[in-house]
Amino acid sequence: MIRKWQDRFATNIRQYEGYAIGKTIKYLTDPEIISLAGGLPSPDVFQRSGLKLASEKALNVGIDRIMQYSPIPGEDSLFNAVIDFLKRDGINITRENMVITTSGQHGLDLTGRLFLEAGDVVLFDRPTFAGAIAAFDMQCPRYIGVDIEEDGSNVTGMERRVEELAQEGIKPKFIYVVPDFQNPTGITMSHAKREALLDLSYKHEIPIVEDSPYRDLRYSGETIPALFTMDQERGGGNVIGLYTFSKIFCPGMRVGFNIGAPEVIARMTHIKEGNILNTPRYNQDMCTAFLREMDLDAHLNECREYYRQKLEIFLETMEELFPPESGVTWTVPVGGLFLWVSVPDRIDTNELFFEAIKHKVAYVPGEQFYGENPARNHMRINFSFVSLENLIEAAKRLATCISEH
Ligand SMILES: Cc1ncc(COP(=O)(O)O)c(C=O)c1O
Repeated sequence: MIRKWQDRFATNIRQYEGYAIGKTIKYLTDPEIISLAGGLPSPDVFQRSGLKLASEKALNVGIDRIMQYSPIPGEDSLFNAVIDFLKRDGINITRENMVITTSGQHGLDLTGRLFLEAGDVVLFDRPTFAGAIAAFDMQCPRYIGVDIEEDGSNVTGMERRVEELAQEGIKPKFIYVVPDFQNPTGITMSHAKREALLDLSYKHEIPIVEDSPYRDLRYSGETIPALFTMDQERGGGNVIGLYTFSKIFCPGMRVGFNIGAPEVIARMTHIKEGNILNTPRYNQDMCTAFLREMDLDAHLNECREYYRQKLEIFLETMEELFPPESGVTWTVPVGGLFLWVSVPDRIDTNELFFEAIKHKVAYVPGEQFYGENPARNHMRINFSFVSLENLIEAAKRLATCISEH
């Protein structure tokens, strides 16, 4: 009888603990808790009738194909719909530049598996998306984080780290960024910084992984070109783009796509062969219908209008509840689903979390977004999911909890 399974596990998985946010979510069983912890889009903007219609059509026309295996890279119809969708953003690609993924998290997994071996360096912003850390952790890399600034990545700081690493004969395998309305901070990278990041990538020959789940959810200001677009214009080919339908359509479909150089995509497709085979055809068809048949522009405008209102009201409530002397500050995002709240240094948001639960409000402690050497006085707040009424109530509960701490 095997008594100690732990000794049998692969070394890279032995210490692996999965997605840090899962540790937070497990405390949220009480239905009275207002949770600002998840990254959920609101069902208020779900395309229910569009999905029902597309589903009925798909099942009537092609039930046998839906029930069958399907091509590993993805369905032609979805490829073509995505190619047209990306043209709106100035991105011109062909099929060989794209693999359909089973959501953004799968896209990250393919990226980690393709590039990373134990000890390899990944360079990213501090803080960064915890799910990316969870995906990359499986390969046991080393993380180098550089504090994010108000206008996005600290590119000068990143270059300094790249040069220091070069002295040791080390080159980061890639730079991972979420330039638009970053998860967890809501920060957007300026145009100048995007140019500078590309300069850094070209000078030191380091690929950039641009994760873009929120790009279409901008609530104010001018759209800034995607790194992928700017890289194409400069003839670079250094950027790999990760996309998902989760935030603009629905997370339930688990469909996304990775784009990049044909060599990169071909390898990612081989990895997909080994880890999941094909993304369910039905789910892909629903995403094609989302792009082609559900009045995309009107839907995206509705989402923007809906989330903009929630964000504005949440920010107004925060202004009222937290005067400057409270020492509590927060980012003011222009899109996406999150903002980043910082509390005075003496407060550890991990400890505060358990008090917040008693006050029936929840957030994600900031510690989970670092990969190494975490800061402990921040929290990620999601404003998209709970009702307006609950959003205001949650901010009030948070204020009471922080003032009583
Ligand atoms: C930056 C970022 N990348 C990837 C993902 C994963 O997306 P999906 O839910 O499609 O797996 C998320 C989800 O929150 C995200 O915020």
